[in-house]
Amino acid sequence: MSTVLSSSRYASLGASSARFIGSAHRMLIDGRWVEAHSGKTFDVFDPGTGQVVARVPEGGAEDIGLAVRAARRAFETGPWPRMKPAERTRLLMKLADLIEAHGDELAEIEAVDNGKPLAVARRGIAGTAEMVRYMAGWATKLNGETVDVSVPGEWHAYTSREAVGVVGQIIPWNFPLSMAIWKLAPALTVGCTVVLKPAEQTPLNALRLGHIIEEAGFPPGVVNIVTGFGATAGAALAAHEDVDKIAFTGSTATGKRIVEASLGNLKKVSLELGGKSPVFVFPDADLERATPAAANAIFFNAGQVCSAGSRLYVHRKVFDRVVEGVIGHGDQLAVGHGLDPASQIGPLISRQQQERVERYVALGEEEGARRFGAPRVFDSDGYFVAPSVFVDTAPDMAIRREEIFGPVVCAMPFDDDDLEGIAAEANRTEFGLFAGIWTRNLSLAHKLARRIKAGSVSVNAHMVNEPALPFGGYKQSGWGRERGREVLDLYTSVKSVAVSLD
Ligand code: NAI
Ligand code: MG
Repeated sequence: MSTVLSSSRYASLGASSARFIGSAHRMLIDGRWVEAHSGKTFDVFDPGTGQVVARVPEGGAEDIGLAVRAARRAFETGPWPRMKPAERTRLLMKLADLIEAHGDELAEIEAVDNGKPLAVARRGIAGTAEMVRYMAGWATKLNGETVDVSVPGEWHAYTSREAVGVVGQIIPWNFPLSMAIWKLAPALTVGCTVVLKPAEQTPLNALRLGHIIEEAGFPPGVVNIVTGFGATAGAALAAHEDVDKIAFTGSTATGKRIVEASLGNLKKVSLELGGKSPVFVFPDADLERATPAAANAIFFNAGQVCSAGSRLYVHRKVFDRVVEGVIGHGDQLAVGHGLDPASQIGPLISRQQQERVERYVALGEEEGARRFGAPRVFDSDGYFVAPSVFVDTAPDMAIRREEIFGPVVCAMPFDDDDLEGIAAEANRTEFGLFAGIWTRNLSLAHKLARRIKAGSVSVNAHMVNEPALPFGGYKQSGWGRERGREVLDLYTSVKSVAVSLD
């Protein structure tokens, strides 16, 4: 491992990130750094080279059991849920400052572990710290209400919001650090304790975050981090009888397995799943902005974004201009290793995802769609895929219906401004996560936003990354909303108390 890290590829790494990546990794359970009960480890790959850069413990059901027990003890008898809300705010604020202070290091780890370009990772980490700060403020604002009751007699009745308890959180690999924080910050602010399982493809920044959480001074057992595979560690967490709530982000197929696994103790479940999100460009839109934004909507993070704009609907009057612009934008994007300062998009996360995306591209061509996008030769064994734009697709083609999770977009013309027809086309999907609308006609934009079955809509922008805005899916894109005030509902239970004053 250390020989790989000492190659020139990693020469730009700072001392702290190089030391961390090359270190002997352990999992965080009950405030201690431990190996897996089985003693097993698994390899962590740099997707930009295909080489093994680290090994982490392969946690399984025993380790999940120990982590849940620690989280239970921290919840029932530890200081965390009993702390004054303002103290939880202060600790979370400190965590945000530390994330920022370690920003360069976290970004470098993300560039190696996930493959995304360093500059992109760096921006993501700044946003992550802001998410922690936003959520930290809610600790002191979890008020209930007094309720005026109508039953006979004199009463004092009120509601209160209580932390739901021990939370299992299972996250994906596309934004490793932000996904960990999206999950942890709201759970912690309300006083829950957590067992976090990062994706097996990207365990490093969750572990680094564990050290930062320790440094901030969180009590032991409040955050436990178990690295391992989905079918073992993940499944054990989802099925565990002493977990009160499970929060998951990932594929719709795995989301359904989480729901099944939750049946044993009917734990609360929230799911952030896939998407096949439409982007509409009307002929009156500011095309100078809309065209590169439509390209970024699908090519950003190599298309590995749940809210990626993978169905691009462009009015026929401007179809050629916009679609040629998107193709040109894709062709010009520098695809390369995360640590290469020239890179604008990185590799896909794994050989498996690379092959999956390539299969979809081949299938699209076999089914008769026309593909645009310059072929590329990549000078490394990284999991790179060139951007593709498909035209002449049909509604029943797999590339039109299924989440590809790569830099592949289907572009479709629309003819008139028949809103019902346009909305019906946008809604012809099992998903409902996001939609983008580009027009200067605000009446049209609001009318269309109202008709689209999706949890988030952006007008003249793509996906606003704002902690105060709730985010989540209609239909098979998920259950519940993350971010905003709404996320607090996922991690709290409401209690009503009625006191007879007679
Ligand atoms: P996945 O949904 O299987 O994995 C996500 C997380 O779930 C990982 O931490 C994994 O270890 C865990 N997991 C897997 N099986 C589990 C189980 N039976 N019980 C509990 N946890 C389990 O996603 P995968 O296989 O990595 O990617 C496949 C496809 O999923 C992608 O091509 C993409 O379409 C979609 N995906 C969507 C994401 C999103 O943000 N909505 C993120 C990642 C993947
Ligand atoms: Mg899977």
